[in-house]
Amino acid sequence: SRTTVAVVGGGPAGLLLARLLHRSGIDCVVLESRDRTYVERRQRAGILEQGTVDALRACGAAERLDREGLVHDGVELRWGRRGHRFDFPSLTGGRRVWVYAQTEVVKDLVALQLADGAPLLFDAEVTGVTGADAGRPVVHYTHEGLPHTLACDYVAGCDGSHGVVRRAIPRGRLRTYERVYPYSWFGILAEAPPSGDELVYAHSPRGFALHSMRSPSVSRLYLQVPNGTDPAAWSEEEIWDELEARLAVEGGRKLNRGPVTQRAVLPLRGSVTEPMRWGPVLLAGDAAHLVPPTGAKGLNLAVSDVVLLARALAERAATGTAAALDAYSSACLERVWRAQHFSWFMTTALHTEPGQSPFDTRLQLARLDRLASSPHAAAELAANYTGLPLT
Ligand code: FAD
Ligand code: DHB
Repeated sequence: SRTTVAVVGGGPAGLLLARLLHRSGIDCVVLESRDRTYVERRQRAGILEQGTVDALRACGAAERLDREGLVHDGVELRWGRRGHRFDFPSLTGGRRVWVYAQTEVVKDLVALQLADGAPLLFDAEVTGVTGADAGRPVVHYTHEGLPHTLACDYVAGCDGSHGVVRRAIPRGRLRTYERVYPYSWFGILAEAPPSGDELVYAHSPRGFALHSMRSPSVSRLYLQVPNGTDPAAWSEEEIWDELEARLAVEGGRKLNRGPVTQRAVLPLRGSVTEPMRWGPVLLAGDAAHLVPPTGAKGLNLAVSDVVLLARALAERAATGTAAALDAYSSACLERVWRAQHFSWFMTTALHTEPGQSPFDTRLQLARLDRLASSPHAAAELAANYTGLPLT
């Protein structure tokens, strides 16, 4: 069979791209290797930037988000056993963020696509792409145990950090930049009402901790742990005690505790693959870049990539000019490196390196104190956290 754009991967990037293309009248097919339940339950990000919400609204995918999403007008950073709040609207001229889980964004996009969108195949694993060098790509995949091919004009690699589409680009044409951080996040989901209205990012002598949420009755929390930590090795009491110790402030309250329903360990890594386009092969989202999660940028970057990509493909289809497509990689990479820097800043300001010297800890505290004392520094943090406008 044949289509205009073969979208490989049914995560947030692939699903949103398919919706945007479909609404521009461009044919596409989404191939997703996992089953629907798996894709809809995969616990990941939870923070949507203003621009991400705007993009979902503009394509009619924000009905439930607008009903159930939690609007957050600020965030708290803690260090030296004191909390410091950063007020987004006043620091950014009205921007804010939403707490709405990636699982819910994915569920909403899948439901819309199955109702009135382009074809979406689950259990369809792409094994490779041929013909890209000749400008006539063919996507090879297996579905229900049988091999299939899909010919197309463009292949969108929205297939995540272990994706295969990237391999269609000759090695010599790609460069990957990478930074591995010497710690991981231990994330839990708990049946407990959040212990406060806003997110709390904490620096402490015991390491980083983050208090987030999924709903008025479900908390999401993270602890910095050494690489290679086994999540099963911690008892629930140990997890809560450690969270409480790291999140503690003078005169603060205890955390609301409840049953831990999910746990996982995620190593922290930043990487960028350049360029994000080679001929008819286009990369978007985690397939092209990863950021450490401390700045909550991963999902938001995936969305801004595909907004730019859909626009470029629509311009190409409508006018025949490829200017926006030619500019796709550099336009994305500018945002990606800004987000990479912000994620590095948040990560290194708040985590403790193994064997970190007292000198370096004092430097971290000086960096954090500046956020509290300088309105310029606070405004820079808020602008990055709420996300730069998509131009
Ligand atoms: P993905 O969501 O990875 O989607 C890629 C899709 O492609 C998947 O559905 C996959 O099954 C499919 N696929 C892969 N290979 C193939 C193939 N060969 N054929 C067909 N389909 C294929 N960000 C934050 O901001 N905060 C967080 O707390 C956070 N936690 C995270 C935890 C984990 C474990 C991970 C992996 C990421 C986390 N992120 C977080 C990052 C954020 O979730 C990602 O940036 C986001 O999912 C990117 O979306 P995507 O669509 O590009 O990639
Ligand atoms: C969440 C994840 C993040 O990486 C972050 O910076 C803030 C919140 C979350 O899962 O809720």
